[in-house]
Amino acid sequence: MPEFPTPDVSSRRAAKAVIPAAGLATRFLPATKAVPKELLPVVDRPVLQYIVEEAAAAGIHDILLVTGRGKTSMVDHFDRRPDLEQRLEAKGDTERLAAIVRPSELAEIYTCRQPEQLGLGHAVSYAESHVGGESFAVLLGDEFTDESDPVLPDMLDLQARTGGVVLCLLEIGDDEVSRYGIASVRPSDLAAGDAEVVEVTDMVEKPALEEAPSRLAVVGRYVLPNAIFDAIRRIGPGAGGEIQLTDAMALLLKEGVPVHGVVFRGTRYDTGAPLGYLQAVVELACRRKDLQLFREWLRDFVAGGLGTGERGG
Ligand code: G1P
Repeated sequence: MPEFPTPDVSSRRAAKAVIPAAGLATRFLPATKAVPKELLPVVDRPVLQYIVEEAAAAGIHDILLVTGRGKTSMVDHFDRRPDLEQRLEAKGDTERLAAIVRPSELAEIYTCRQPEQLGLGHAVSYAESHVGGESFAVLLGDEFTDESDPVLPDMLDLQARTGGVVLCLLEIGDDEVSRYGIASVRPSDLAAGDAEVVEVTDMVEKPALEEAPSRLAVVGRYVLPNAIFDAIRRIGPGAGGEIQLTDAMALLLKEGVPVHGVVFRGTRYDTGAPLGYLQAVVELACRRKDLQLFREWLRDFVAGGLGTGERGG
């Protein structure tokens, strides 16, 4: 079993993360009919590995995957493959060997099933017994931040100080408002690393443009107090008839729990639908030193009017 740093028990910094990953991924059909969207590759790693790496880099090594029907292959990715390892070892392919062992070294992965997909709040409620009485992080399974711009460490530090809810907020355009939870905010005296922190005064799930209180979207990173589980039990179905995490957080806010947002200005990859997925693949491929040929091909492809690039082997 890999050794992970022992969490400092005196600190209140959340040490566990939950990744809700039971969704049906309708925005990416038919690709996701039999393959979980979390396992779609971005260059040569599945999306889910980037997310687990993001958690591990923030010091979280205990991760609960909330899975559903047809999605158990996600867990296999974080298991060992002795047969494959022996084969690569025999061939002396140390680089690939390290790459296939790495996912199992990032964190302890636990799973539970969400039998019906009744909303994000409903998915999070399945984490209650695993999380115990502590605060915890939630990382949505189809988005990740660039490793050079992490936001989670600042969020975890801030939540350890407030004991409340900490959100990641991203400024978006009018055309995207109805896809997100939207927050109204006011300035805060608190700081989180170099990031701007705001106090959240209200939240609404997927509002119409006219009803949106701001252009600050709640994106897929949360640090939540344990009280969220009780709040989820006390809300009914919200937008789209689903049990919404946003509604449970709004209830805590109304009851006096501090809710802050860290305004994220780094790079976020949203791989839940084809456009964002393709952007993530191209951007990350262009940064890879071992894929310089892709970059050169792409430059020619664009210069040639997007139709005449020559393919390499
Ligand atoms: C969920 C949340 C929403 C949030 C979004 C971020 O929506 O309900 O508040 O803004 O994730 O990606 P979903 O994308 O699951 O519809």
